[in-house]
Amino acid sequence: MNMMRPMKLAGSELMFGRGCLEHLKTLKGEKAFIVTGGSSMRKSGILQKVIDLLSEAGIKSEVFSGVEPDPFFSTVYRGAEAMKAFGPDIIVGLGGGSAMDAAKAMWVYYEHPELTMLSDIIPPNPIPKLRNKARLVCIPSTSGTASEVSRSVVITEDETHVKYGIGNMEMMPDIAICDPEVTVTMPPSITAETGMDALTHALEALVSKRANYLSNILAAAAAKDIIHYLPKAYEDGSNLDYREIMLNASMTAGMAFTNVSLGIVHSMAHTMGSFFGISHGLADAIILPYVMTFNQEDEFAKNTYAALAKELGAEDLVSVIRELNDTLGIARSLNEIIKDEAAYMEVLDEMANMAKNDGCTKTNPIIPTIEQLKELFVKVYRGN
Ligand SMILES: [Fe+2]
Repeated sequence: MNMMRPMKLAGSELMFGRGCLEHLKTLKGEKAFIVTGGSSMRKSGILQKVIDLLSEAGIKSEVFSGVEPDPFFSTVYRGAEAMKAFGPDIIVGLGGGSAMDAAKAMWVYYEHPELTMLSDIIPPNPIPKLRNKARLVCIPSTSGTASEVSRSVVITEDETHVKYGIGNMEMMPDIAICDPEVTVTMPPSITAETGMDALTHALEALVSKRANYLSNILAAAAAKDIIHYLPKAYEDGSNLDYREIMLNASMTAGMAFTNVSLGIVHSMAHTMGSFFGISHGLADAIILPYVMTFNQEDEFAKNTYAALAKELGAEDLVSVIRELNDTLGIARSLNEIIKDEAAYMEVLDEMANMAKNDGCTKTNPIIPTIEQLKELFVKVYRGN
């Protein structure tokens, strides 16, 4: 039995439900630095709405846009330099996981100008105390990463393209604003991929070696809602009820996993992202049923999946996930996406090693050997 770690569910203010973006009007501060991704938040008008609401609170905004997927350290550092010049007391991460993660990481370098390199915040180096200069607000535009209630960031090293996952409760956003209206313009493919990321969070938290009474309640509720509502949100993205349930479920799964961690679906997805640039949610979705089949060798995992399947009125949870992927138009195996099999097989050893060393591996119900990881990478590629 592992010693329990203290649970932390979100920062100091957690807002969710339709229209809660208005909460921005009540913030106290002078200058807000808004970090956002490509152009979707500008096009949808949400960025302007955020600026206007902050302005109603007497807060002046500066926008840093163009954060790429899986942000590079150079982008993070450029943002931190702009923050140092502007001097905000509020930082807003507005967008998908990448924009929110970038905002979190920029915040660390803004608060501590003595830090200048990515390695400065990679363990064993600690995340120093934050909140001397600014508080962090996160506003998700996807229902997936749950970065708004998580302690982690994923930052890509420029030279190697290795993606570093860094987690520390100090980076938990102070204020999370989960308004479904912000997510409504997400296209179907992004809805599907980010939704499967959220489902993977719930299912990995549920069988984590650190799972506990409270994380199980959160993870199981989120899993059931996502399995039921993700196909609906995918079909009819303009339906705010579906969007609201998906965003709430993503956040709820996030509260579970940020406390009890994940498993090897994430270890393998991080690795595939580093080697082949495959998007995180898509990698999760493809890998998930294979790892669940592997995990079923463990009694606890097998019983946990069976109990959830029963509640869903299904025979077998792995089949439920496979059918869900089919409904969402997600590939059954990786060879549909990465065509060059020889290139994939050539890096099998390296990938198995990277996945073995990923922080998420140690809470998987079965700690896989390098050989087992290699077998899994082959199965995920070829299908079976
Ligand atoms: Fe994830």
